[in-house]
Order: sequence, then C-alpha cells, then structure tokens
Amino acid sequence: MPLIGSSSGAVSQSLEEKAQLCSACHGENGVPQDPATPVIWGQHEGYLYIELRDYKRGNRKNEQMSAIVEGLERDDLLALAAYFAKKPWPNLSQPRAGSDDTTHAERVAGSAQCPQCHLNGYLGDSTQPRLAGQNHDYLLKTMQDFRSGARANNDWMTALLQKYSDDDIGALAKYLAGL
Ligand code: HEC
Ligand code: HEC
Repeated sequence: MPLIGSSSGAVSQSLEEKAQLCSACHGENGVPQDPATPVIWGQHEGYLYIELRDYKRGNRKNEQMSAIVEGLERDDLLALAAYFAKKPWPNLSQPRAGSDDTTHAERVAGSAQCPQCHLNGYLGDSTQPRLAGQNHDYLLKTMQDFRSGARANNDWMTALLQKYSDDDIGALAKYLAGL
C-alpha cells in the first residue's frame, strides 16, 4: 500500500484511501487480523483522536502506529477518528468469562469504580474508551502496559492499575472481552 501518491499520480490521498492503510491491521470489516490489535470500528471519536495524537506526539509508543501517524497531519487524524467512530462495532464472538472470573472482575471493578468512567456496560463515551467486546489479548496487553509504564499517556490509569495484581488484570480482560 503506497503511503503517498495514487494511481492517478495525485499527491494527496482521499480519506477512503488513508483509511485503507488502517484496514491492513485493524481489519477490512472491523475485525483486527491479530488479537493484540484493538478494534477501532465504532470506538468513540474523541478517544480515537486522542490516541492518534498521542502516538504522533510520542506520548504513546508503538512502532507500527508511530510509523503510520508520521505521515498524517492533525486534520487527517481528526477525519480518521470521525470516520472510524461512525462504523459499527464488530462482534468478535469472544466467550463470556466464566463465573469465577466474572465474580473476581466485578469485585475489582467495584472497588476501582471502573464503570464510573467507562460507563454502564463499559460502552464508554467521548474520550472514555469503550471496553466491552474489545479484543482480549489487546485488553490484557494494554492494561499490563499501563501498569508497567510502557503505555504512559494516562498517569491516572497507570496509578489505578498498579494497585491490582496480574490475576486481577487477567480476570478483568476476560470479563470485558466477553461482554
Ligand atoms: C501495521 C499494523 C497497523 C496499521 C497499518 C494501523 N494500526 Fe492502529 N494499531 C496497531 C496496533 C498493533 C495497535 C496497538 C498498539 C499499542 O499497543 O499501543 C494499534 C492501535 C491503534 C489505536 C489505539 C486504539 C485504542 O483502543 O487505544 C488507534 C486509534 C489506531 N490504532 C488507529 C489506526 C488508524 C486510524 C490507522 C490508519 C491510519 C491505523 N491504526 C493503522 C496496528 C496498526
Ligand atoms: C477516572 C476515570 C476512569 C476510571 C475510574 C477507569 N478508567 Fe480506564 N480509562 C480512562 C480513560 C480516560 C482512558 C483513556 C486513556 C488514554 O487517553 O489513553 C482509559 C483507558 C482504559 C483502557 C484502554 C482502552 C483501550 O482501548 O486502549 C482500559 C483497558 C481501561 N481503561 C480499563 C479500566 C479498568 C479495568 C478500570 C477499573 C479497574 C478503569 N479503566 C477505570 C478513565 C478511567
């Protein structure tokens, strides 16, 4: 997929063409190819934009995403966030968490007040991301990354998750993925 230029030789690409670049990993139909890649279809516009901006600023680090946003301007990031937010959230058909994991996750979520920000059903809004039905492996990885500081674009989430164990985070990932 060329990063610049098109078959007509024009230097600027349409929004559709830019969005095509994303489908290679985030999925043609919104289902990511790799389970450690997040769903972006139907995620909230404000949140999508903040993440793209943070990758571009280097506040959130990921080799693949950094390479992608390098060639994009702020207007592109805003347009792409709006574009993907309008798509339907895909059904990844992940299993519901078992009763032990559910009880464990609900206990942690209650003490940490996760639904206060991620809202009922973990559907999120605006700059609070949807977590329900997100890819399990991605949820696990990104919560571990917040905790270790590898994902350092939100100090508050880092401080919160540092209070919890690997087992707690494992149960939360299974629970949220299966919603
Ligand atoms: C080469 C594969 C690849 C391509 C191409 C790609 N992404 Fe990503 N994207 C990823 C991976 C992997 C992550 C998770 C990285 C991490 O853990 O920080 C990610 C994360 C994201 C996130 C953060 C989502 C969240 O829930 O926090 C957004 C937003 C995003 N990508 C948007 C895009 C857009 C828009 C494009 C096209 C312009 C794109 N990506 C192209 C692989 C890719
Ligand atoms: C005070 C509000 C608040 C609370 C409480 C909160 N979060 Fe968050 N959470 C956020 C915000 C805001 C973000 C987006 C951070 C960013 O900009 O990257 C986020 C991001 C996340 C992400 C990353 C989503 C993605 O797509 O990458 C996960 C996973 C997450 N939170 C899980 C939890 C869990 C589990 C709890 C409870 C243990 C929790 N959060 C409690 C506000 C909150």
